[in-house]
Amino acid sequence: MAVKKDFKRADGRKAEDARPMTAKVGVIPNADGSAMFAFGDTVAIAAVYGPRKLHPQHMQNPTKAVLRCNYDLLSFSVGDRKRPGPNRRAQEISKAIEWALSPVVDLSLFPNTVIDVQIYILQADAGTRTAGINAASMALAQAGIPMTDLVCSIAVGKNDTNLIVDLSKGEEDFEEGEGATDFAVAKPANSSSFSLMQMDGKISPELVPEATKLASKVCEEIYEIQKKTLKDSLLPSEQEKGAKK
Ligand code: CDP
Repeated sequence: MAVKKDFKRADGRKAEDARPMTAKVGVIPNADGSAMFAFGDTVAIAAVYGPRKLHPQHMQNPTKAVLRCNYDLLSFSVGDRKRPGPNRRAQEISKAIEWALSPVVDLSLFPNTVIDVQIYILQADAGTRTAGINAASMALAQAGIPMTDLVCSIAVGKNDTNLIVDLSKGEEDFEEGEGATDFAVAKPANSSSFSLMQMDGKISPELVPEATKLASKVCEEIYEIQKKTLKDSLLPSEQEKGAKK
């Protein structure tokens, strides 16, 4: 089944369109690296600390650093206030983010240390793990952690039988026909392999290649945004330019 070209979504997007994407680095000056990434109303920030000595000592790995990711939704990020503190969902997403990022980070250079990646969702309208991965990848790069690539992440899925990209919360809750499927993926930008595939719902095997093709196309757009944002952050600001005159 091909993506329906005439299929219009509630917010006017075409099936293959992500929500407007925005990104910024250096949003948390005290961190070693930080970034914000948004898909429409979903806003994630990530802060990187380290590499620094890992305590307690028995958790250290003498051959490489430990990449420790912590994801959470802030209480005010969702319509109904979320109870503060970690829960099973946050633990699972933290682990998934760790797996998504690990293939591109050269951990062997920093034995016995930890690189902490804190990811918080300021505003949630579905796609929070994907926005979090995009932000974390930029934050790691800004922190100067040696990486072989940037990781890009997007959700594809289905509303009834229509393949769509970057589901909003309304689309994730769609119940008509076959209902909704949310298929979150992440991939190193310059690789053809995926470092994360997580599905909530059902999709027939013959649709998977088309879904991953759609995801890869949006990952290319995300990669360009990530690169441009990181490069622009190295240029002198208008204020710094003024001070030099
Ligand atoms: O956010 P993501 O799609 O990666 O993960 P999810 O577990 O499928 O959550 C989908 C959406 O449900 C979130 O983005 C939030 O908008 C919403 N949600 C919520 O309102 N309250 C929660 N405690 C958890 C999720």
